[in-house]
Amino acid sequence: MVAPPTEHEILDVNRRYHDVAAGTYDAKWGISFGEIGHQQVLGKLTKLLGPRPGPFARSLEIGAGTGYFSLNLLQTGVVREITCTDISPGMLAALEHNAHDLGVAVETVACDASQLPFEDESFDLVLGHAVLHHLPDLDRAFGEFRRVLRPGGRLFFAGEPSRYGDRIAQVPKRAAYRVAPLWRRLMRAAPATEGHSDGGEANHQLEALVDVHAFTPDQLSTVAARAGLADVRIRGEELLANWFGWANRALEATADPDTVPWGWKVYAFKGYLAFQEIDRRLLEPRLPPAIFYNLILSARNPG
Ligand SMILES: C[S@@+](CC[C@H](N)C(=O)[O-])C[C@H]1O[C@@H](n2cnc3c(N)ncnc32)[C@H](O)[C@@H]1O
Repeated sequence: MVAPPTEHEILDVNRRYHDVAAGTYDAKWGISFGEIGHQQVLGKLTKLLGPRPGPFARSLEIGAGTGYFSLNLLQTGVVREITCTDISPGMLAALEHNAHDLGVAVETVACDASQLPFEDESFDLVLGHAVLHHLPDLDRAFGEFRRVLRPGGRLFFAGEPSRYGDRIAQVPKRAAYRVAPLWRRLMRAAPATEGHSDGGEANHQLEALVDVHAFTPDQLSTVAARAGLADVRIRGEELLANWFGWANRALEATADPDTVPWGWKVYAFKGYLAFQEIDRRLLEPRLPPAIFYNLILSARNPG
């Protein structure tokens, strides 16, 4: 029997994988810092924080990666001053590069989410996107989030995989891998080099080791409540959009990106946005959070 990885091993593999993946990260995930990025990020925030969130004077992002959330929020005026943390210095270097291109100021600090080098009660908003599922010690991390939040300050996390949503998403992914050779022939696309979107094959092998959780809504709300946070709210997001998106992503991952026709990329992106809208309007308000692919969480520090 193989022993489960230690906390130190999980942190180490996350740092190593993301340091190398940083160079191709924005292209892999289609990250935008323009109008589309603003709308995507605001769309998530408003689902739990209301139609006009903020403005927050000082925000702290956990696992900020290349800056998707904070740099977009800064440009929309929802946050005024941003501090971005990540365990991967490579990701933070990419973030600084993006901030420089956008002409905006950001403070970056390389650190683990469960050991934040900041004073108590120093931020108005603590946020993150697609990071909690990488953290080995959630209780310690949430204790830190609460400690650095000022009384009344808000906590917001999005993009966390849900346990059932993750299982359901395997169906379109597997189906897509089966038809991928036929799809490439139809698209006249060349096969991909192994690990091309993760900085090479060796790094690609590490990807399977960096995710340590897929959550039920209860697990997430319990960990927030145990840290003493109040007004804990959980919502599920993206069901049809994820089936559609994962099927297309799985197909595209098998092809050299430069040979995938532009028309296909436009169809995949517009289709994803259309399904996102159906999810938002019709399904998310009616169905239980557990069946969606992503979970979002908000809470408040009662002081
Ligand atoms: C899936 S990426 C998301 C990046 C960014 N938030 C986004 O949405 O594009 C996860 C990020 O979490 C960071 N990370 C992983 N473990 C961490 C930890 N223990 N503390 C802080 N950051 C961590 C990774 O280095 C990576 O940048």
